[in-house]
Amino acid sequence: MLQHLHLHERLVCSSCKGELVQSSDTYLQCRRCRATYTIESRYVSMLDRREQDDRPFDWNRKEGEIRDYSEISNSLALSGIGRFATFLNYGYVSSGNEQHAVVEPVDVWNRNSVKLLLEVVGRTAIRGRDVIDIGCGRGGNIAALHKYFKPQSTVGLDICPANIAYCSAKSRPTESFYLVGDAENIPFADESFDVVLNIESAHAYPNRKRFYEEAYRILRYGGVFLYTELMLEEEAAQNVRLLEEAGLSVIRNQDVTSNVLLSCDENAKQRTGAQGIANDANASRNIGDIHDFIALPGSKKYEEMKAGKRQYRMMNLVKRYPCFTNDNNLV
Ligand SMILES: C[S@@+](CC[C@H](N)C(=O)[O-])C[C@H]1O[C@@H](n2cnc3c(N)ncnc32)[C@H](O)[C@@H]1O
Repeated sequence: MLQHLHLHERLVCSSCKGELVQSSDTYLQCRRCRATYTIESRYVSMLDRREQDDRPFDWNRKEGEIRDYSEISNSLALSGIGRFATFLNYGYVSSGNEQHAVVEPVDVWNRNSVKLLLEVVGRTAIRGRDVIDIGCGRGGNIAALHKYFKPQSTVGLDICPANIAYCSAKSRPTESFYLVGDAENIPFADESFDVVLNIESAHAYPNRKRFYEEAYRILRYGGVFLYTELMLEEEAAQNVRLLEEAGLSVIRNQDVTSNVLLSCDENAKQRTGAQGIANDANASRNIGDIHDFIALPGSKKYEEMKAGKRQYRMMNLVKRYPCFTNDNNLV
């Protein structure tokens, strides 16, 4: 199987970041800690299943995410709109506040989601850079990055195998590398990327501090972390503190809740993209959960955004070059 699969040259063990060797047609193994990873026909799964024993509570939450997004993937396939549903986010509609995008999406599918990406990218240089999208979902953001900015290389990592199978089937292998992995244990060597993208995914990570540290580790100096997330009002300051403690410097921190609410209003009318799941009677979640998940007007999440209890934050952070004091100590 591996002969059909091109492995990324910076790939390392998710857990200890040791060197990987191919132990058989279907397994990769870490030379150092002996963790094993499975090779599927079109992608590699870099989840270290030993977490089940080491941190069962965290693992259960992650399994819940895998289950939910597998279900969404099935629903989208059944609804017939799976081909077009390449985003799983709320999207963004302009509302007169400060805009950062340098390109406007016109005549595109999933316009609000493309606009969300272009807003978080802002003036960040993407052309010729190495980019990783953590929690890449169904690959819409990576496809749009190629369309608008021509990065040198892109990697999409997601914990849900159904999402990665969908992305791998849709993309050209020479353009992007997709793999199953965990944002808290990123299987790439230090300083592998110029840009880390993370859109509406980090709320699901049990240990966000660990994710921020990983984002910092895999960034090159001068690299940028592009980050959006819906968070509780009281989490906003705490997240900034954790990001700074991880070593990242905030260069933009914008509340774009009003723009996201406008997009949720439009989505409610259109029922396209991820909204297709709301029409699927087979989904095992109840309809209230689904409405909340996609933040339909009237749902708890939508009303909390409206009331200011939840904020949709768009952030740009940078990994600054280290500074040395006169006596050559690092600060
Ligand atoms: C709301 S979707 C957003 C997807 C995509 N970023 C987009 O904008 O369309 C959240 C994604 O995060 C992924 N995810 C959740 N927990 C994860 C983890 N620990 N590591 C990597 N991906 C994760 C889910 O599988 C899902 O695809």
